[in-house]
Amino acid sequence: MAFDIDRYTTTSEKVTWQDLDFESFRDDPLPESTLRSLRYMCDIEYHTVCYLRDLLVTPSHKDVDVTAFMTMWNREEFWHGEALAAVLKVHGIVVDYDELKSTRLKLGWKDRLDPVKQALLGNLIGKDFIAVHMVWGAANEWSAVAAYNRLADLEGHPVLAELLRRIAKQESRHVAFYATQARDRLAKSKKAQVIARFALSKAWGPVGSGVMTDDEVFHVMSHLMGGTDGRKEAAKIDAHIAKMPGLSGLTIVQDALDKRGIAA
Ligand SMILES: [Fe+2]
Ligand SMILES: [Fe+2]
Repeated sequence: MAFDIDRYTTTSEKVTWQDLDFESFRDDPLPESTLRSLRYMCDIEYHTVCYLRDLLVTPSHKDVDVTAFMTMWNREEFWHGEALAAVLKVHGIVVDYDELKSTRLKLGWKDRLDPVKQALLGNLIGKDFIAVHMVWGAANEWSAVAAYNRLADLEGHPVLAELLRRIAKQESRHVAFYATQARDRLAKSKKAQVIARFALSKAWGPVGSGVMTDDEVFHVMSHLMGGTDGRKEAAKIDAHIAKMPGLSGLTIVQDALDKRGIAA
């Protein structure tokens, strides 16, 4: 299945929520554990621009389809952040840019070195780096679709569910881009398959790990991927990844749950 990048860039829209009755949260507020997960998701959506920065120093920036996609993708993710911040605001939780900035500053040298490291690594591996970037992106977007749909099901609040489904629909288009790119690029290069397999099994972590604290990562993963049904979602993501050329047998999401002791 081909991904039509021109169609994507011309139909990309910011997610809308102005028609949704957010005031309903005042009579029917969301529970603390859901707000905590939403706060995490909001923060990660806002963080997209930092990922973008890290990737623009790699060979990916030379590919026109990839850069066209990433431009629109970054914008869509930003608006996901804004939508979630609006839900949190009705609950008296202000997502503070200054606080976000200080989280990023605490990352200190690690964060500052990331673009440099990625540039060195990316340029060393050359074109095969893009394949790794694409499959990594696909894994993260599959996680996003699963997380938003799962939270919509778990919470059952009609307004929240509608917003999360709208966001998940956009995440599905992100999946389509990354997965199509990854499949084609991996199929063409054995070396890319070997590097992608190595990178995913050694370095991949759940979206937001490395940015958020371990406590927050644990909360979100237990909330959305714990228990029998949560584990089923994790297994589905792994199955998608394992279908990629050269990646059969990988179970990175379930491994991440096991590593954190999150019970099935
Ligand atoms: Fe998003
Ligand atoms: Fe996304």
